[in-house]
Amino acid sequence: MELRHLRYFVAVADERNFTRAAERLNIAQPPLSRQIQQLEEELGVVLIEKGSRPVRLTEAGKFFHAHAQELLEQAANLKAMTQRVGKIDRKFAIGFVASTLYGLLPEIVRRFRARYQTLDISFHELATIEQIAALKDGRIDVGFGRLRIEDHAIRRILLREEPLIVALPVGHRLAGVDGPVRLADVSQEALLVYPKQPRPSYADQVLAIFRERMLLPQKVIEVRELQIAIGLVGAGQGVAIVPKSLQGMIRTDVVYKALDEPGAVSPIMFSVRQMDRSPELTNMLEVIYEIYEEMGIAHTRHRL
Ligand code: BEZ
Repeated sequence: MELRHLRYFVAVADERNFTRAAERLNIAQPPLSRQIQQLEEELGVVLIEKGSRPVRLTEAGKFFHAHAQELLEQAANLKAMTQRVGKIDRKFAIGFVASTLYGLLPEIVRRFRARYQTLDISFHELATIEQIAALKDGRIDVGFGRLRIEDHAIRRILLREEPLIVALPVGHRLAGVDGPVRLADVSQEALLVYPKQPRPSYADQVLAIFRERMLLPQKVIEVRELQIAIGLVGAGQGVAIVPKSLQGMIRTDVVYKALDEPGAVSPIMFSVRQMDRSPELTNMLEVIYEIYEEMGIAHTRHRL
């Protein structure tokens, strides 16, 4: 069985018609029918109900269709991914979620750039879920995100678990209290979450943290991005739960308070194409761990 057989079968199943499938494949209909027959002979099962018009798939045909589509998609991704890994002029594209810019990303990039000066580095702001697609089609080489998204084509490394804090409007009743606050203390407030799209996103991570503690925010306001959430906190529209590094976003109208809430953390994930062993990735990981060690940040060293 060759990829060609899968392509032909998927075209017939999608179009539910041999003539249209042959047109889509740019071949004549008789060789298409012969190839499908060959495929059924090789598998020893009937995939298409005999004489059905429009084409109807048997149970085995439906099963084969689903898996053949997945295999074809993987083959297309493999092509894009291999071309990216084998590139001659060393380009390195980094995908990141906006919040990492307030954490260590700038320092990591400065050090990496200074050490590997010939590398052509580009940056792409992408939600974690968008990073997965961008890795697969070769638009980026590494993604720094916050969600644990399972995908067999992607290798994820947990860099660290970043504590969460709460952003309050200046003058808020909790802003002046000593010590950290609890999530229950803010569950009666309007909660600003971001990004609204694409989902699942960091917004769902925050909502899950409330849910896991049997808390229901009084009102949830979904906004497009981090800066809007913080801006609206400043305007007194509500509170936001953000990663600790956001403290670096200094505003006169916002106060950040630590949370006394074990487990209220957001992971920082390093995502790459499965099996990609490009030296840039190992070097980037090395720079990250070096910075963590200098700053005394808890982490576990992983290798690619
Ligand atoms: C961090 O803050 O730990 C971090 C941010 C971006 C990339 C890697 C690590």
